[in-house]
Amino acid sequence: MTITNMSFRDAIEARRSYYNITDESTLSNEQLEELVADAIKYTPSSFNSQTSRAVLVTGEKNKALWNAVWEAHKPNLKVEELPVYEDKFKNSYAAGYGTIVFYEDQDAIDSFVKNFPIVQWTIKDWVQNSNGMAQYIAWTALAANGMGANLQHYGQYSPVNADAINKHLDVPSGWKVPIAMLAFGVPSDINAPGNPAYAKTFEPLVDGETGRVLVRH
Ligand SMILES: Cc1cc2nc3c(=O)[nH]c(=O)nc-3n(C[C@H](O)[C@H](O)[C@H](O)COP(=O)(O)O)c2cc1C
Repeated sequence: MTITNMSFRDAIEARRSYYNITDESTLSNEQLEELVADAIKYTPSSFNSQTSRAVLVTGEKNKALWNAVWEAHKPNLKVEELPVYEDKFKNSYAAGYGTIVFYEDQDAIDSFVKNFPIVQWTIKDWVQNSNGMAQYIAWTALAANGMGANLQHYGQYSPVNADAINKHLDVPSGWKVPIAMLAFGVPSDINAPGNPAYAKTFEPLVDGETGRVLVRH
């Protein structure tokens, strides 16, 4: 794993949404490949089913990917939304060094269901849980290496969007829905608007019986 010597505690705090990213990377392409492979490899999955997949896209292919998504997504938007989204596509997604696109492999899920029919109704949720863990590991690993990233879901807006992404990435037919797209790069300026997303507020945590965490020592 290419993670720096940042502590796990510091890494989970450092991971934020960054919306002003540049086409620079603190890691080489080989290190990025390792980071993505490690995230997929070490993410736990129900019954060790290993149904999650990812594509690492960088450079010109990354810019072309976001251009393809933009062309597919435009018809979903109202006229007044166009400039807002055009800015997001340009400065928050295409401007980055790369994108990690996360999938579930439907063929692998079908085999999983066949092998474990007793849990067939929960597998749909479990694979999504596991996919989210892989996204989180990659996002946090990028943050631990000084990279900003933001998580997008344009592949889920419409089958047209999904098709545009899948065609561009030339993925196997079982990789049907691009579940999440993690756009990343060195942040343009830590203090620029959108870096991090906003001053984050937190709901009360360990706070008697009303917090988000209950304690039962
Ligand atoms: C499941 C999930 C879906 C999200 N979808 C989007 C999204 O579609 N677009 C986006 O800009 N951010 C998305 N986010 C990022 C959240 O808005 C962000 O994580 C949250 O506001 C907290 O900010 P932070 O990431 O800086 O900690 C998503 C986050 C999660 C966990």
